[in-house]
Amino acid sequence: MKLKNVVIAGLTFAVAVSSAFAQMKADDAIKVRQAGYRFMGWNMSRIDASLKGEFKKEDVVKAAAAIQAIANAGLSPLFPAGSDKGTGFHETHLKSEFFDPANSKKVAELFGNLAKESGELAKVAATGDKEAVKVQYGKLGQTCKACHDDFRKSDH
Ligand code: HEC
Repeated sequence: MKLKNVVIAGLTFAVAVSSAFAQMKADDAIKVRQAGYRFMGWNMSRIDASLKGEFKKEDVVKAAAAIQAIANAGLSPLFPAGSDKGTGFHETHLKSEFFDPANSKKVAELFGNLAKESGELAKVAATGDKEAVKVQYGKLGQTCKACHDDFRKSDH
C-alpha cells in the first residue's frame, strides 16, 4: 500500500472508532460503567483484606493502582443522557437526578474526589504504612459512599 493510502486507511479507521464511541448505546455504556465499578469494588475488597489480616503491600499497591487508573480514566462518556434507564449486566441503578443540571457541579465534585483520593491512596500504598493506608482507604471509601448515597438506587 502506498503511504497515502495507509494514511487514508488510518484516518478512516480513526473516524470509525471515534463515531462508534460517540454513538455508544446506553446499554453498552451501562455495561462498561457497571464493570468498572465492580472492578473498583473488587480492588477495594483486596485492600480491605490486607487491613483486616496480614498486610500484603504488593497486593495493596496493585489494587490501589487499578482503582486510581479507573477513577482517572475519564468516565463521563459512560454516562450518556438517558442512561438512567437501561440494562447493562443488570438494570441500571443510576438515579435520574444524576442528569439534573442543578446537580452537575456536585457530580463533577464527586468524580473529582474519587480521582484525588484514589491518587492519594496509590501514594500511601507505596509507603507500605498499614495505618496510613487504613486512613486513606477510609477517605476513599467515603467518596464512593457519597456518590452512592445521592446517585445510586439501592432499592433493586
Ligand atoms: C460519581 C459517582 C460514583 C462514585 C464516586 C462511585 N460510584 Fe459506585 N456506582 C455509582 C453508580 C451510579 C452505580 C450504578 C451504575 C449502574 O448500575 O449503571 C454504581 C455502582 C457500583 C457498584 C455495583 C456495580 C455493578 O453493577 O455490579 C459497585 C461495586 C461500586 N459502584 C463500587 C464503587 C466503589 C468501590 C467506589 C469508590 C472507589 C465507587 N463505586 C465510586 C456511582 C459512583
